[in-house]
Amino acid sequence: MDSLSNKRIILGVTGGIAAYKSADLVRRLVKMGAEIRVVMTPAATEFVRPLTFQALSGNTVHSALVDSDAEAAMGHIELAKWADLLLVAPATANTISTLVQGRADTLLGAIYLALNAPTMIAPAMNQAMWHHPATISNLETLSRTGVEIIEPDRGSQACGDIGLGRMQEPSQIVDRVAARFHSEILLGRKLVITAGPTREAIDPVRYISNHSSGKMGYALAAAAVEAGAAVTLISGPVDIPPPDKCLLINVTSAEDMYEAAKKACGNGEIFVSAAAVADYRCIDISEKKIKKTKNVITMSLERNVDIVSRISTLKPNLYVVGFAAETENLIKNAKAKLHQKRLDAIIANDVSRPDIGFNADDNEVFWITKDIVKNLARDRKSRVCREIIQLIAAAFDEQKAAETSEEQTG
Ligand code: C5P
Repeated sequence: MDSLSNKRIILGVTGGIAAYKSADLVRRLVKMGAEIRVVMTPAATEFVRPLTFQALSGNTVHSALVDSDAEAAMGHIELAKWADLLLVAPATANTISTLVQGRADTLLGAIYLALNAPTMIAPAMNQAMWHHPATISNLETLSRTGVEIIEPDRGSQACGDIGLGRMQEPSQIVDRVAARFHSEILLGRKLVITAGPTREAIDPVRYISNHSSGKMGYALAAAAVEAGAAVTLISGPVDIPPPDKCLLINVTSAEDMYEAAKKACGNGEIFVSAAAVADYRCIDISEKKIKKTKNVITMSLERNVDIVSRISTLKPNLYVVGFAAETENLIKNAKAKLHQKRLDAIIANDVSRPDIGFNADDNEVFWITKDIVKNLARDRKSRVCREIIQLIAAAFDEQKAAETSEEQTG
């Protein structure tokens, strides 16, 4: 089953008897690695106590729209910004109409309006309510605006009726949520991604390196896996766990990274060079630890191979994406690198800002090709990287289509 690690989900629980099943839903989502924040409508708290959800999710449950304590911890706008997905399960007929009307008189309604992420709902209601024209029209409206409806099940209902309207089983809902995070835009494509810093040895205990955390490269690898790609992640030394389902190759120096990348790109289709490769290495690496006997010592350094540049020359058919970490003249310098290194695209980020870039959890970048300069607004690296993967997939498809039509006309 697909993992939900690093996915932030708001589970909206509304006032229906199926709310008891939402406890199992939280347990299953957490087990798959998702981070869950539960938002309950006041009516839902009559069915299940918030403490149940707090214990299962490990997070405070949010319920009141105006609650100074909760607002101080995480208000509705912050919650809305935090989420990768809003899942409302069970979604009562009343909450569904609240969402349709865009009412913000409940916390859940306010979050829905402020959200910058997809919404899924798992309706649960009596079979007559489910078949009512008002419900049918409300669901059509939500569906038209992109809300994914997890159709209810048929069977005997809490009220004694038999028919459609029982909330879908938690295991089915979890499968739908996992599927929502996956696409096929890079299905079967072979991606090679480098990430993290490299270390260039000075002696057996010391090295030259940089502040790269690997977060951007790892988030790109995770997003590429979600898009269906077969990913080889070549990583310098970092402290973060690798994403699921990619082939991880650990390296230390730029030379190791180059060898690994060259080999992996042998049958790759797309190469993304997110690593912060050290530009220089020591000419003479001391075999023994250098003693601090002298006040001044001198080291001679030589240029490392420029991995991305060398690989784009060696493999002209590869779609190559580089990075430009700049502290000034961001776009101009990035465009120059795009050209010099013969890249298909370059992602430029301003590393002079402490809130984004190196080591930070957020980033704001520019996607630059020979024809386009596109700003990707500041957001969590995982979300920026999903956007980058969409851009890579579209540009790669476009290039393939152009090659095919050239072959046909030529
Ligand atoms: O020239 P600069 O290091 O700023 O170029 C950035 C791009 O070049 C990044 O994609 C980085 O991974 C790559 N690079 C490389 N090998 C080097 C230095 C940089 O592949 N030795």
